[in-house]
Amino acid sequence: MTNTYPVNMDITPEVEAFFDEATNTISYIVKDPASDACAIVDSVMDIDYAAGRITFDHADAMIARVKERGLTLEWIIETHVHADHLSAAPYIQQQLGGKIGIGDQITVVQETFGKVFNEGTEFQRDGSQFDALFQDGDTYKVGEMECLAIYTPGHTPACMAHVMGNATFVGDTLFMPDGGSARADFPGGDAATLYDSIQKVLALPDEMRLFMCHDYGPNGRDIEWETTVGDEKAHNIHVGQGKSKEDFVKFRTERDATLDMPKLIIPSLQVNMRAGEIPTDKDGRQMLKVPVNGLG
Ligand SMILES: [Fe+2]
Repeated sequence: MTNTYPVNMDITPEVEAFFDEATNTISYIVKDPASDACAIVDSVMDIDYAAGRITFDHADAMIARVKERGLTLEWIIETHVHADHLSAAPYIQQQLGGKIGIGDQITVVQETFGKVFNEGTEFQRDGSQFDALFQDGDTYKVGEMECLAIYTPGHTPACMAHVMGNATFVGDTLFMPDGGSARADFPGGDAATLYDSIQKVLALPDEMRLFMCHDYGPNGRDIEWETTVGDEKAHNIHVGQGKSKEDFVKFRTERDATLDMPKLIIPSLQVNMRAGEIPTDKDGRQMLKVPVNGLG
């Protein structure tokens, strides 16, 4: 597969990573090298689910850093509707501004989980909770830096990877080479589709820096989040060295059948399909639901 997306490897954004230990998520501040503009990718809102308590330590650290560096936040990017952590996008937007963007297939995710959570008609399923809905190949700017959204479904229907200069934020497609790939068994997920999406990422230039959304430190190694297309092609344990689609689908399907649901999937979906807003009950109180045997 050849890469037909317009990529500019001469632009090197500064990428600062913020690891969230509770969910193994990596959030990023990405700074345009030519200006003080930046984007935040995949922020995290802290939750103690057992206590129903929301806090913002992780997001506050990122906000403080943006302020300390005197940056202007232009975009708050969600690579997808995460099932393992809650987004802090609205909290960050309130304090720093910026537009919240996600893939336009969010409408499919909203339709699916609107049903699962038995949301009423007041829950809009048109993506209108977000400021921007990206289609495959859509471009946008962070300062002078042209950025690009690439449609990468498979883990979820609305997944996108975001290319910013010579840095690509892969969301839940690839993990580090020794971590392999993301699961594809959530409602709307599909292993064969994920394989095709991963090939799109691997068709980017070999020197393209890749930044992970998650890392679990397999085999006891320290947490890492940065690799390259060339490294993934050579060493990824699930798709490297030209592994066939058939082999990948068989492996991925068998592996996924052994995985537990992420601990925070129930609150994560309800919040993230609303662009990070916590749902409210009829009296306006913030409230989450648990659909019994509803996730399949
Ligand atoms: Fe995910």
